[in-house]
Amino acid sequence: MRISVGTVDQLPVGRCVAVGDGSVVVARVGEVVVAFQNRCLHQDSRLEGGLIENGRLTCPLHFWRYEVETGRHIGGRGNLDMYPVEVVDGEVYVEAPDPAPPMGMREMMLRHAKEWERGD
Ligand code: FES
Repeated sequence: MRISVGTVDQLPVGRCVAVGDGSVVVARVGEVVVAFQNRCLHQDSRLEGGLIENGRLTCPLHFWRYEVETGRHIGGRGNLDMYPVEVVDGEVYVEAPDPAPPMGMREMMLRHAKEWERGD
């Protein structure tokens, strides 16, 4: 899905803002705009409000850190999903995956069990 975010100037520098249906955060880093999943790898908390300094995004809840260029969790495993950003005449668009269909309780429990077995 293509998300219209507004203009580059409307985005605060170095702070993650939720856009679209809330599943994506964007942040302005200088004149570059980056987009990530709005879900921390630690406890699935939302990353909106997270700060970006010195090329690192910090989750606002327990301060896990991620590389802005790659989404890599610093000091741990895993990567945040990153999404392509296009700026057309100052307007920012993010190409994010379509929302997943709602998950049943059984599927949700199996997913968490698999993540737990892998140590995610
Ligand atoms: S939920 Fe992000 S660091 Fe804990």
